[in-house]
Amino acid sequence: MGLRVSIVLPTYNERGNIEPLLAQLLPLQQHYNLELLVVDDDSADGTAERVRELAHTEPRLRLIRRVGRSGLASAIKEGLLDATGDVALVMDSDGQHEPGAVQRAIERLVDSDLDLVIGSRFHPEAEIHGLSGRRERGSTWANASARFSLPQPYSQLSDYMSGFFALRLEPLLPLIRAVDVNGFKFLYELLAVSKGRLRTAEVPLSFQPRSYGSSKLDLAIFWDFLISILHSLSLRLLPRRAISFGLVGLSGVVVQLLVTQILMLGGLGFEQALPFAVVAAASSNYLINNALTFRFQRLQGLALLRGLLKFLLVASLPVLANVGLASAYYSFVSRDTLWAQLAGILVVFVWNYAASSRFVWNTP
Ligand code: GDD
Ligand code: MN
Repeated sequence: MGLRVSIVLPTYNERGNIEPLLAQLLPLQQHYNLELLVVDDDSADGTAERVRELAHTEPRLRLIRRVGRSGLASAIKEGLLDATGDVALVMDSDGQHEPGAVQRAIERLVDSDLDLVIGSRFHPEAEIHGLSGRRERGSTWANASARFSLPQPYSQLSDYMSGFFALRLEPLLPLIRAVDVNGFKFLYELLAVSKGRLRTAEVPLSFQPRSYGSSKLDLAIFWDFLISILHSLSLRLLPRRAISFGLVGLSGVVVQLLVTQILMLGGLGFEQALPFAVVAAASSNYLINNALTFRFQRLQGLALLRGLLKFLLVASLPVLANVGLASAYYSFVSRDTLWAQLAGILVVFVWNYAASSRFVWNTP
């Protein structure tokens, strides 16, 4: 009975799923000193209300309710930091992770004296039921890029995206604190910040179809993952948001070239087409950044329109600066037009990123 085990259960609209899951987990108190921590992001379907009710008669159950939804990885981090166990286990609350794997993972962690044990859907003994062919192929691809971008000692792992893992809290707390939560995949980030020092193993995890509700995996989460990989490859030097902002900027270049082409095909001259194309590219950058890079500060309704005007204003200053800088570089530093333009673009990028973070989306 000695081992204190905290199970962290992130929920977002899981009212129909959480209760049966808790009922399956509670018998574990025969083996452990158990704590069940539900981290709910203010679900609209009454998940938190239901958990609160259940907690009235179940002292092992705790509810953390966060207002202003801020994502799976951040919910996991918060749950782990609040957990009081010797060992913590994180799993999905939608019934897709088999409760039977909990004991398997904890025993492996304790018996083999490891830091982290992952429930792997791609273990030879695991079975996957709830994933579409497309999702499964996506995961395979994601796992391959994760393996490539993570420290070498982790290359024998098979499921870097898993939402099921057990770890020792005391020694890992500093790492957990350091995890960058602007993403969906807590596990990937934990592996990345641990620089290959964790003793890890995997146990098979059979994946079941969802009983109620739907998956929250969407394009934004795929985008986050892409950013995570680039972040690791940049040796974690560039801020994640700056990488995202930069990629969106590249898409803006494509928009600008396309719009210029189309308008010129329609009969406009280059000088007439250019201003439209520049505004179109800036607006498309703004909308994509609002949906992806700054989606936790996402602007909507009237604020979206006001934000666009601010963004255009913010972005128009460096256009002037860019021209000034490029010509200054050309006159005073070097006659190389390529480097002159690249210097200009770098300044525009840094300015746009810093100024629009601050003034358009009000983030530091
Ligand atoms: N608190 C909180 N906040 N919980 C969330 C949030 C959020 O923003 N988004 C999702 N969750 C919870 C869900 O309620 C569920 O319990 C769990 O996190 C997983 O979310 P799903 O939306 O069911 O994810 P999935 O089934 O599509 O994704 C599965 O595969 C991924 C790898 O491909 C999960 O196992 C993920 O954990 C895994 O990373
Ligand atoms: Mn799920």
